[in-house]
Amino acid sequence: MTPASTAERREAIVDGEFAFTNQDFKKIAALLYGQAGISLPETKATLVYSRLAKRLRALGMKTFTEYCNFVALESSIDEQQEMLRALTTNVTRFFREPHHFDDLRANILEPMADKVRSGGRLRLWSAASSSGQEPYSMAFTVLSVWPNAADLDIRILGTDIDTNVLATGRAAVYDESLLEGIPANARNQYFERDASDRRAWRVCEAARSLVAFRELNLNGPSWPMKGPFDAIFCRNVVIYFDEPTQERVWNRFAPLLVPGGKLYVGHSERVGSSITAFESAGLTAYRKVGGR
Ligand SMILES: C[S@@+](CC[C@H](N)C(=O)[O-])C[C@H]1O[C@@H](n2cnc3c(N)ncnc32)[C@H](O)[C@@H]1O
Repeated sequence: MTPASTAERREAIVDGEFAFTNQDFKKIAALLYGQAGISLPETKATLVYSRLAKRLRALGMKTFTEYCNFVALESSIDEQQEMLRALTTNVTRFFREPHHFDDLRANILEPMADKVRSGGRLRLWSAASSSGQEPYSMAFTVLSVWPNAADLDIRILGTDIDTNVLATGRAAVYDESLLEGIPANARNQYFERDASDRRAWRVCEAARSLVAFRELNLNGPSWPMKGPFDAIFCRNVVIYFDEPTQERVWNRFAPLLVPGGKLYVGHSERVGSSITAFESAGLTAYRKVGGR
Protein backbone atom coordinates (compact mmCIF):
# COMPACT_ATOMS: atom_id res chain seq x y z
CA MET A 1 0.00 0.00 0.00
CA THR A 2 1.40 3.45 -0.93
CA PRO A 3 1.70 6.16 1.76
CA ALA A 4 -0.93 8.26 -0.08
CA SER A 5 -3.53 5.52 -0.11
CA THR A 6 -2.81 4.76 3.56
CA ALA A 7 -3.45 8.43 4.40
CA GLU A 8 -6.62 8.44 2.29
CA ARG A 9 -7.94 5.37 4.06
CA ARG A 10 -7.11 6.80 7.45
CA GLU A 11 -9.14 9.93 6.69
CA ALA A 12 -12.11 8.17 5.11
CA ILE A 13 -15.28 9.15 6.98
CA VAL A 14 -17.70 6.85 5.17
CA ASP A 15 -16.84 3.34 4.00
CA GLY A 16 -17.96 2.58 0.49
CA GLU A 17 -17.23 2.32 -3.20
CA PHE A 18 -15.67 5.83 -3.37
CA ALA A 19 -12.98 7.40 -1.17
CA PHE A 20 -14.69 10.14 0.90
CA THR A 21 -12.56 12.11 3.33
CA ASN A 22 -13.32 14.73 5.91
CA GLN A 23 -11.73 17.34 3.63
CA ASP A 24 -14.13 16.30 0.83
CA PHE A 25 -17.07 16.68 3.17
CA LYS A 26 -15.88 20.12 4.26
CA LYS A 27 -15.48 21.26 0.65
CA ILE A 28 -18.96 20.08 -0.28
CA ALA A 29 -20.46 21.70 2.82
CA ALA A 30 -18.68 25.00 2.05
CA LEU A 31 -19.87 24.94 -1.57
CA LEU A 32 -23.47 24.28 -0.59
CA TYR A 33 -23.36 26.98 2.06
CA GLY A 34 -21.91 29.50 -0.39
CA GLN A 35 -24.39 28.53 -3.11
CA ALA A 36 -27.65 28.24 -1.17
CA GLY A 37 -26.98 29.13 2.48
CA ILE A 38 -27.65 25.51 3.45
CA SER A 39 -25.70 24.22 6.49
CA LEU A 40 -24.54 20.60 6.51
CA PRO A 41 -23.46 19.32 9.93
CA GLU A 42 -20.88 16.49 9.93
CA THR A 43 -23.57 14.09 11.12
CA LYS A 44 -24.87 14.27 7.52
CA ALA A 45 -21.70 12.75 6.03
CA THR A 46 -23.32 9.38 5.27
CA LEU A 47 -26.29 11.10 3.67
CA VAL A 48 -24.00 13.28 1.54
CA TYR A 49 -22.08 10.17 0.47
CA SER A 50 -25.17 8.22 -0.52
CA ARG A 51 -26.85 11.15 -2.32
CA LEU A 52 -23.73 12.08 -4.31
CA ALA A 53 -22.42 8.57 -5.07
CA LYS A 54 -24.77 8.40 -8.06
CA ARG A 55 -23.34 11.67 -9.40
CA LEU A 56 -19.81 10.18 -9.24
CA ARG A 57 -21.04 7.08 -11.07
CA ALA A 58 -22.78 9.19 -13.71
CA LEU A 59 -19.60 11.21 -14.24
CA GLY A 60 -17.31 8.14 -14.19
CA MET A 61 -15.30 9.47 -11.24
CA LYS A 62 -13.42 7.34 -8.73
CA THR A 63 -13.07 9.61 -5.68
CA PHE A 64 -14.91 12.44 -3.99
CA THR A 65 -11.75 14.55 -4.21
CA GLU A 66 -12.02 14.36 -8.00
CA TYR A 67 -15.71 15.29 -7.74
CA CYS A 68 -15.01 18.22 -5.39
CA ASN A 69 -12.37 19.63 -7.74
CA PHE A 70 -14.81 19.39 -10.65
CA VAL A 71 -17.92 20.80 -8.99
CA ALA A 72 -15.95 23.74 -7.55
CA LEU A 73 -14.98 24.97 -11.04
CA GLU A 74 -16.73 28.17 -12.07
CA SER A 75 -17.72 26.48 -15.32
CA SER A 76 -19.48 23.58 -13.51
CA ILE A 77 -22.77 25.43 -13.10
CA ASP A 78 -24.85 22.44 -14.25
CA GLU A 79 -23.13 20.11 -11.80
CA GLN A 80 -23.57 22.65 -9.01
CA GLN A 81 -27.33 22.50 -9.69
CA GLU A 82 -27.18 18.68 -9.74
CA MET A 83 -25.34 18.69 -6.41
CA LEU A 84 -27.87 21.07 -4.89
CA ARG A 85 -30.75 18.88 -6.13
CA ALA A 86 -29.11 15.76 -4.75
CA LEU A 87 -28.59 17.32 -1.33
CA THR A 88 -31.91 19.13 -0.85
CA THR A 89 -35.41 17.86 -0.44
CA ASN A 90 -38.34 19.09 -2.52
CA VAL A 91 -40.99 17.32 -0.44
CA THR A 92 -44.24 19.24 -0.52
CA ARG A 93 -48.00 18.64 -0.64
CA PHE A 94 -51.19 20.40 -1.64
CA PHE A 95 -52.57 22.21 1.42
CA ARG A 96 -49.60 21.16 3.58
CA GLU A 97 -50.16 22.56 7.09
CA PRO A 98 -53.77 23.42 6.19
CA HIS A 99 -54.22 25.87 9.08
CA HIS A 100 -52.07 28.38 7.14
CA PHE A 101 -54.51 28.38 4.24
CA ASP A 102 -57.45 28.81 6.65
CA ASP A 103 -55.59 31.72 8.27
CA LEU A 104 -54.74 33.24 4.90
CA ARG A 105 -58.38 33.12 3.91
CA ALA A 106 -59.82 34.41 7.21
CA ASN A 107 -57.23 37.08 8.06
CA ILE A 108 -55.87 38.32 4.74
CA LEU A 109 -58.19 37.45 1.85
CA GLU A 110 -61.68 37.87 3.30
CA PRO A 111 -60.93 41.27 4.88
CA MET A 112 -59.73 42.40 1.44
CA ALA A 113 -62.64 40.88 -0.48
CA ASP A 114 -64.53 44.07 -1.33
CA LYS A 115 -61.42 46.13 -2.04
CA VAL A 116 -60.03 43.55 -4.45
CA ARG A 117 -63.44 43.05 -6.08
CA SER A 118 -63.49 46.75 -6.86
CA GLY A 119 -60.03 46.81 -8.44
CA GLY A 120 -57.63 46.64 -5.45
CA ARG A 121 -54.37 44.75 -5.70
CA LEU A 122 -53.45 41.43 -4.03
CA ARG A 123 -49.98 39.92 -4.16
CA LEU A 124 -48.93 36.60 -2.58
CA TRP A 125 -45.51 34.91 -2.64
CA SER A 126 -44.52 31.30 -2.11
CA ALA A 127 -40.79 31.76 -1.51
CA ALA A 128 -39.68 28.11 -1.71
CA SER A 129 -42.42 26.83 -3.96
CA SER A 130 -40.85 23.48 -4.89
CA SER A 131 -42.99 21.78 -7.57
CA GLY A 132 -45.93 24.15 -7.22
CA GLN A 133 -48.30 22.51 -4.73
CA GLU A 134 -47.92 25.43 -2.29
CA PRO A 135 -48.62 28.35 -4.68
CA TYR A 136 -51.48 26.40 -6.31
CA SER A 137 -53.00 25.74 -2.87
CA MET A 138 -52.79 29.51 -2.36
CA ALA A 139 -54.51 29.98 -5.74
CA PHE A 140 -57.33 27.56 -4.82
CA THR A 141 -57.81 29.51 -1.57
CA VAL A 142 -57.95 32.75 -3.57
CA LEU A 143 -60.52 31.22 -5.96
CA SER A 144 -62.68 30.19 -3.01
CA VAL A 145 -63.00 33.91 -2.16
CA TRP A 146 -63.03 35.36 -5.69
CA PRO A 147 -64.19 32.75 -8.26
CA ASN A 148 -63.42 35.37 -10.96
CA ALA A 149 -59.89 35.99 -9.58
CA ALA A 150 -58.38 35.78 -13.07
CA ASP A 151 -60.24 39.01 -13.95
CA LEU A 152 -58.97 40.85 -10.85
CA ASP A 153 -55.60 42.38 -9.93
CA ILE A 154 -54.36 39.23 -8.18
CA ARG A 155 -50.96 37.60 -8.69
CA ILE A 156 -49.18 34.77 -6.93
CA LEU A 157 -45.43 34.39 -7.29
CA GLY A 158 -43.74 31.01 -6.82
CA THR A 159 -39.95 31.01 -6.54
CA ASP A 160 -37.34 28.33 -5.88
CA ILE A 161 -33.62 27.84 -6.40
CA ASP A 162 -34.17 24.56 -8.30
CA THR A 163 -35.11 25.02 -11.94
CA ASN A 164 -36.37 21.41 -12.27
CA VAL A 165 -39.10 21.86 -9.67
CA LEU A 166 -40.06 25.18 -11.24
CA ALA A 167 -40.59 23.40 -14.56
CA THR A 168 -42.92 20.92 -12.82
CA GLY A 169 -44.81 23.83 -11.29
CA ARG A 170 -45.22 25.50 -14.67
CA ALA A 171 -46.45 22.27 -16.26
CA ALA A 172 -48.98 21.97 -13.37
CA VAL A 173 -49.60 18.27 -14.03
CA TYR A 174 -49.66 15.95 -10.99
CA ASP A 175 -50.13 12.23 -10.52
CA GLU A 176 -53.42 11.25 -8.91
CA SER A 177 -51.55 9.98 -5.81
CA LEU A 178 -50.38 13.55 -5.11
CA LEU A 179 -53.97 14.78 -4.94
CA GLU A 180 -54.86 12.52 -2.02
CA GLY A 181 -56.22 14.61 0.82
CA ILE A 182 -57.98 17.03 -1.51
CA PRO A 183 -61.75 16.46 -1.16
CA ALA A 184 -63.29 15.06 -4.36
CA ASN A 185 -65.46 18.15 -4.93
CA ALA A 186 -62.42 20.48 -4.68
CA ARG A 187 -60.41 18.15 -6.92
CA ASN A 188 -63.10 18.26 -9.57
CA GLN A 189 -63.40 22.03 -9.22
CA TYR A 190 -59.69 22.92 -9.37
CA PHE A 191 -58.19 20.16 -11.53
CA GLU A 192 -58.98 18.64 -14.88
CA ARG A 193 -57.90 15.21 -16.10
CA ASP A 194 -54.80 15.45 -18.26
CA ALA A 195 -55.57 14.29 -21.79
CA SER A 196 -52.29 12.37 -22.16
CA ASP A 197 -52.38 10.23 -19.00
CA ARG A 198 -55.34 8.65 -17.18
CA ARG A 199 -53.67 9.04 -13.74
CA ALA A 200 -52.56 12.64 -14.24
CA TRP A 201 -54.48 15.79 -13.32
CA ARG A 202 -53.75 19.33 -14.44
CA VAL A 203 -54.42 22.40 -12.33
CA CYS A 204 -57.34 24.34 -13.81
CA GLU A 205 -56.66 27.34 -16.02
CA ALA A 206 -58.24 29.73 -13.49
CA ALA A 207 -55.59 28.80 -10.89
CA ARG A 208 -52.70 28.50 -13.37
CA SER A 209 -53.33 31.99 -14.69
CA LEU A 210 -52.79 33.45 -11.21
CA VAL A 211 -49.37 31.86 -10.59
CA ALA A 212 -46.01 32.79 -12.13
CA PHE A 213 -42.85 30.79 -11.35
CA ARG A 214 -39.36 32.34 -11.21
CA GLU A 215 -35.92 31.15 -10.17
CA LEU A 216 -34.77 32.82 -6.96
CA ASN A 217 -32.07 32.02 -4.42
CA LEU A 218 -33.18 33.18 -0.98
CA ASN A 219 -29.49 33.73 -0.27
CA GLY A 220 -28.73 35.46 -3.54
CA PRO A 221 -27.28 38.98 -3.45
CA SER A 222 -30.37 40.71 -4.76
CA TRP A 223 -34.04 39.89 -5.15
CA PRO A 224 -35.69 41.47 -8.18
CA MET A 225 -39.23 41.69 -6.82
CA LYS A 226 -40.50 44.93 -5.34
CA GLY A 227 -43.69 43.71 -3.73
CA PRO A 228 -45.33 44.72 -1.60
CA PHE A 229 -46.91 41.37 -0.81
CA ASP A 230 -49.97 40.84 1.34
CA ALA A 231 -48.65 37.47 2.50
CA ILE A 232 -45.47 35.42 2.08
CA PHE A 233 -45.23 31.67 2.59
CA CYS A 234 -41.64 30.63 3.33
CA ARG A 235 -42.06 27.16 4.71
CA ASN A 236 -39.78 24.22 5.33
CA VAL A 237 -36.69 25.75 3.78
CA VAL A 238 -34.93 27.93 6.38
CA ILE A 239 -34.71 24.84 8.57
CA TYR A 240 -31.67 24.00 6.41
CA PHE A 241 -30.04 27.40 7.05
CA ASP A 242 -27.96 28.41 10.06
CA GLU A 243 -29.29 31.02 12.46
CA PRO A 244 -27.59 34.13 10.95
CA THR A 245 -28.82 33.10 7.48
CA GLN A 246 -32.37 32.58 8.78
CA GLU A 247 -32.34 36.01 10.41
CA ARG A 248 -31.07 37.64 7.24
CA VAL A 249 -33.92 36.05 5.24
CA TRP A 250 -36.60 37.15 7.76
CA ASN A 251 -35.22 40.69 7.71
CA ARG A 252 -35.26 40.73 3.90
CA PHE A 253 -38.95 39.79 3.86
CA ALA A 254 -40.06 42.63 6.12
CA PRO A 255 -39.76 45.54 3.62
CA LEU A 256 -41.51 43.42 0.99
CA LEU A 257 -44.67 42.97 3.06
CA VAL A 258 -47.43 45.53 3.49
CA PRO A 259 -47.84 46.66 7.11
CA GLY A 260 -50.04 44.00 8.73
CA GLY A 261 -49.11 41.49 6.01
CA LYS A 262 -48.35 37.95 7.12
CA LEU A 263 -45.37 35.63 6.95
CA TYR A 264 -46.10 31.91 7.25
CA VAL A 265 -43.20 29.59 8.16
CA GLY A 266 -42.83 25.80 8.46
CA HIS A 267 -44.00 23.80 11.49
CA SER A 268 -40.46 23.52 12.92
CA GLU A 269 -39.36 27.05 12.02
CA ARG A 270 -39.59 30.23 14.09
CA VAL A 271 -39.08 33.96 13.62
CA GLY A 272 -37.22 34.89 16.80
CA SER A 273 -38.06 37.92 18.93
CA SER A 274 -34.82 39.59 17.77
CA ILE A 275 -36.60 40.20 14.44
CA THR A 276 -38.52 43.26 15.55
CA ALA A 277 -40.30 43.80 12.23
CA PHE A 278 -42.62 40.85 13.03
CA GLU A 279 -44.94 39.87 15.86
CA SER A 280 -46.33 36.42 16.46
CA ALA A 281 -49.82 36.03 14.95
CA GLY A 282 -50.96 32.42 15.16
CA LEU A 283 -49.34 29.04 14.82
CA THR A 284 -46.06 29.56 12.90
CA ALA A 285 -47.51 32.77 11.49
CA TYR A 286 -46.15 36.30 11.94
CA ARG A 287 -47.55 39.74 11.22
CA LYS A 288 -45.48 42.62 9.98
CA VAL A 289 -45.82 45.27 12.67
CA GLY A 290 -47.55 48.50 11.73
CA GLY A 291 -51.19 47.46 11.24
CA ARG A 292 -53.09 47.25 7.97
C1 LIG B 1 -38.94 20.96 1.53
S1 LIG B 1 -39.26 22.01 0.14
C2 LIG B 1 -40.56 23.02 0.81
C3 LIG B 1 -41.65 23.30 -0.21
C4 LIG B 1 -42.85 24.08 0.31
N1 LIG B 1 -42.49 25.40 0.78
C5 LIG B 1 -43.56 23.30 1.42
O1 LIG B 1 -43.43 23.68 2.58
O2 LIG B 1 -44.24 22.32 1.11
C6 LIG B 1 -37.83 23.10 0.20
C7 LIG B 1 -37.57 23.84 -1.09
O3 LIG B 1 -36.63 24.88 -0.82
C8 LIG B 1 -35.81 25.04 -1.98
N2 LIG B 1 -34.58 25.75 -1.58
C9 LIG B 1 -33.50 25.28 -0.91
N3 LIG B 1 -32.57 26.25 -0.75
C10 LIG B 1 -33.10 27.36 -1.33
C11 LIG B 1 -32.62 28.70 -1.49
N4 LIG B 1 -31.42 29.08 -1.02
N5 LIG B 1 -33.41 29.58 -2.15
C12 LIG B 1 -34.61 29.22 -2.63
N6 LIG B 1 -35.12 27.96 -2.51
C13 LIG B 1 -34.36 27.05 -1.86
C14 LIG B 1 -35.59 23.61 -2.46
O4 LIG B 1 -35.21 23.58 -3.82
C15 LIG B 1 -36.96 22.99 -2.20
O5 LIG B 1 -37.79 23.04 -3.34
